Amino acid sequence: MKNSILISTLIFMSLFVVFHSAFAQDTLKQNKFENAAANHKCLKCHEHRFYTYYNDLSDKNVIRRMNPFYVIDSASFYKQNHCTFQCVDCHDADYAKFPHNGQLQMEEMPTCIDCHEGDENTAKFHFENIYKEYKASIHFKEFGSNFSCWLCHNPHKYKVTARKSKDISKVIIYDNEMCLSCHSKEINFSVLSDSAPKNMIAAHDWLPNQKLHFQHVRCLDCHAKVQNGTMVDHDILPKGKAVKKCVNCHSKNTFLMATLYKFQSRRHRSKFGFLNATILNNSYVIGANRNYILNVVSVVLFALVIIVLIIHGILRIIKK
Ligand code: HEC
Ligand code: HEC
Ligand code: HEC
Ligand code: HEC
Ligand code: HEC
Ligand code: HEC
Ligand code: HEC
Repeated sequence: MKNSILISTLIFMSLFVVFHSAFAQDTLKQNKFENAAANHKCLKCHEHRFYTYYNDLSDKNVIRRMNPFYVIDSASFYKQNHCTFQCVDCHDADYAKFPHNGQLQMEEMPTCIDCHEGDENTAKFHFENIYKEYKASIHFKEFGSNFSCWLCHNPHKYKVTARKSKDISKVIIYDNEMCLSCHSKEINFSVLSDSAPKNMIAAHDWLPNQKLHFQHVRCLDCHAKVQNGTMVDHDILPKGKAVKKCVNCHSKNTFLMATLYKFQSRRHRSKFGFLNATILNNSYVIGANRNYILNVVSVVLFALVIIVLIIHGILRIIKK
């Protein structure tokens, strides 16, 4: 009797779980579908370099060029952190009308902190600490809040990479692109500065094999102060304080373990307790690797020498 109650309860519960998850999947798909349909109303213009508009007055379709700053790549939009959002979750719903109401241009956009301060779901990212670091950075000191988080974190395509990706070279390309999209692109740089951006290759010509270095380290690794609470350090220092000494990286205790390899090394350390594993897997920083076999061989040789010395000593004593 008891058993049959137990079994039927179990069957009921598993059916519930199956139906529930199928239903949840469905609502998720439904949401995605609805969002895509809603966003298409905006993207049919904002995805393209040219848009078409039906002009009532002349009773004709006109084709116009879109401001290049206002063109959004829909493929990256649906791969980013906020991919479940509708355009009008951040922008005013009145944008549905075109021509857009001129006053909308003055709408105040939400900042990261507006949504993420005290947000339990994203507490692990430590937004409060990042905000403090950002306020100390050279960009904020020079431009204040004109240099907003959105200038690096493109609202329509930023995606968490360093924390999630296993492929360090992808992380390096992604993170460096966030800096280079401005430091070597005049059109974006000109939003903040009258002068053209300095040539990044010339500014770093003191690095031997610069191309190789830029493929293996991030701008942030040399330019940001290492802090402990955050995964990605946001306090970008003036150029005079950047890492220039070769030994900082080309040594046993390369500081890259605390920056670029931070997440990887934490994972590895808890798994294998072996600090250098990450570096050995991903790249060869001269001096950073200790050869295990060589270590063992030298210990064995050392022990052999001592044994020989002891035997030699004993033999001499016996002979006397
Ligand atoms: C018929 C084409 C068209 C549609 C549809 C459209 N836009 Fe626009 N949008 C433009 C053009 C063109 C501009 C450039 C400025 C202007 O003409 O107002 C613009 C500018 C903007 C701007 C920049 C700020 C501003 O006011 O200039 C935002 C933000 C914007 N649109 C959001 C949206 C959103 C959100 C939707 C969907 C709800 C949408 N747009 C639908 C064509 C369109
Ligand atoms: C997570 C919030 C968010 C979502 C979702 C979002 N945007 Fe934006 N969008 C912003 C922010 C913030 C800015 C201003 C960026 C800045 O200040 O540099 C912006 C800027 C723009 C601009 C250019 C205006 C300018 O001043 O450069 C256009 C056009 C635009 N968004 C259209 C869209 C469309 C179309 C969608 C939907 C496909 C969309 N946005 C979804 C936050 C969002
Ligand atoms: C309009 C509100 C809003 C704004 C503005 C906003 N976010 Fe979010 N963000 C969210 C929501 C909602 C989520 C989904 C997670 C959650 O439930 O909090 C999210 C998720 C994230 C995630 C987690 C993604 C993941 O894969 O776990 C990161 C990282 C993030 N946002 C960073 C930012 C950054 C950086 C900014 C500013 C440049 C920003 N957000 C601005 C609402 C916002
Ligand atoms: C100078 C450029 C820059 C500015 C300004 C900037 N960030 Fe970032 N941020 C980055 C880079 C680069 C990453 C690494 C992206 C990756 O690989 O995931 C990052 C990562 C992050 C992450 C994810 C960290 C993690 O633990 O995975 C958050 C959250 C974040 N930034 C929030 C902010 C907020 C909030 C602001 C403004 C107060 C801001 N950022 C301003 C460049 C910037
Ligand atoms: C939206 C544009 C933009 C982005 C994105 C950006 N910067 Fe900058 N940065 C500037 C401007 C403008 C200055 C001030 C002009 C200058 O000194 O070159 C500056 C200054 C600097 C300086 C100080 C140079 C000095 O003279 O002391 C460093 C270092 C720097 N940026 C590194 C970075 C790094 C690293 C990133 C990416 C994590 C980044 N920047 C992202 C625009 C940007
Ligand atoms: C190996 C460390 C290292 C890396 C990697 C690195 N930098 Fe630098 N960077 C420096 C140093 C050191 C200086 C100061 C050079 C000097 O003293 O002449 C500098 C100078 C600069 C300047 C100031 C240029 C000037 O003359 O005003 C900017 C801006 C800058 N770097 C941005 C970047 C960006 C963006 C990246 C990534 C693509 C990057 N750096 C990668 C170490 C580095
Ligand atoms: C931010 C860390 C960092 C700094 C600072 C740095 N390096 Fe490197 N260096 C690396 C990494 C990572 C590699 C890539 C190693 C690999 O995978 O081949 C590298 C590669 C090299 C190589 C090429 C090795 C080869 O296999 O061809 C040389 C040579 C080199 N560095 C010399 C220097 C010198 C000299 C300095 C100082 C002026 C310097 N590095 C500063 C991290 C750094």
